Amino acid sequence: MLFRHHGGTLSVWTPAKLNLFLEILGKRADGYHELETVMVTVGVFDTLYFTETDTDEICLTCHDTTSNGSEQNLLTLGDDNLVVRAAKLLCRYIGDQRGVNIHLTKRIPVAAGLAGGSSDAAATLEALNRFWKLNLTSRELRDLAAQLGSDISFFIGNTRAAICHGRGEKVTPLSIPAGLHFVVVRPQSGLSTADVFRGCLASDQPFSADNLVSSLKKGNLGEAARYFYNALQKRAEHLNPDVTHLRERFSAQTVLGHMMSGSGTAYFGLCANRFQAQAVAARLRAMRLGQVHVASSGR
Ligand code: C5P
Repeated sequence: MLFRHHGGTLSVWTPAKLNLFLEILGKRADGYHELETVMVTVGVFDTLYFTETDTDEICLTCHDTTSNGSEQNLLTLGDDNLVVRAAKLLCRYIGDQRGVNIHLTKRIPVAAGLAGGSSDAAATLEALNRFWKLNLTSRELRDLAAQLGSDISFFIGNTRAAICHGRGEKVTPLSIPAGLHFVVVRPQSGLSTADVFRGCLASDQPFSADNLVSSLKKGNLGEAARYFYNALQKRAEHLNPDVTHLRERFSAQTVLGHMMSGSGTAYFGLCANRFQAQAVAARLRAMRLGQVHVASSGR
């Protein structure tokens, strides 16, 4: 996350994430799934602009650069938007009703398993903590984040890579080499996280992320890619043939490994270098499969 003060405006650039590993360890009494997942931030950014207002209203406006016109209802600006929910939760936590104008420039595709909404919510907590000079600790912000959603805590405190447990909110940062080069494609259609999880069972003999993590730490990307795993992918492919189509297209490309991110529908390939990523992206763009990004993991 990158912060800039300019005049009375605080701007925040907040990244997308990819899951390089996601295993379901169990189903919980609260309906959520117990997970082991490895996440890295990648350089596709939403930007949020915070400015003062004379009222005590939280007012959100948005410029959605990702909308293809057919999925306009996915991004709402009212009380159910995670940005508004984050700001209101913060007000409740400090016991003071405050107002702010927030403008969101959306570049991270929605309903894609890239955690764009979660990243925006984390950015809102971090930014308003500064904007309103609240001096809350990262621990407090993470606890608030966990109340809002499962993968929001990951984005608090500029974590670049982490292994996460619980619902995904228990974050253990990982020290792995930065600058992994990915091609990320979001097809024309998205998927609801709840719908994908609903049809998934816990593994009897769950895979562990240990091999992936040790390969990443060694910087052996070819080996790491062999340990990519996503327990949600089969179900996502069942619900949405666009994901299967992307898997088939990526299989024919020169990539170290490829997989769906989170609950989909975004699909990524890990490349040996940026040059290769750009070449693969150009070929996939020509196939008109959806929005294609070249994105490196956070430095
Ligand atoms: O926590 P979040 O709002 O991101 O989760 C969206 C939905 O995804 C939940 O309502 C739940 O159905 C499903 N989910 C799950 N187990 C998780 C995370 C999410 O079942 N660990």
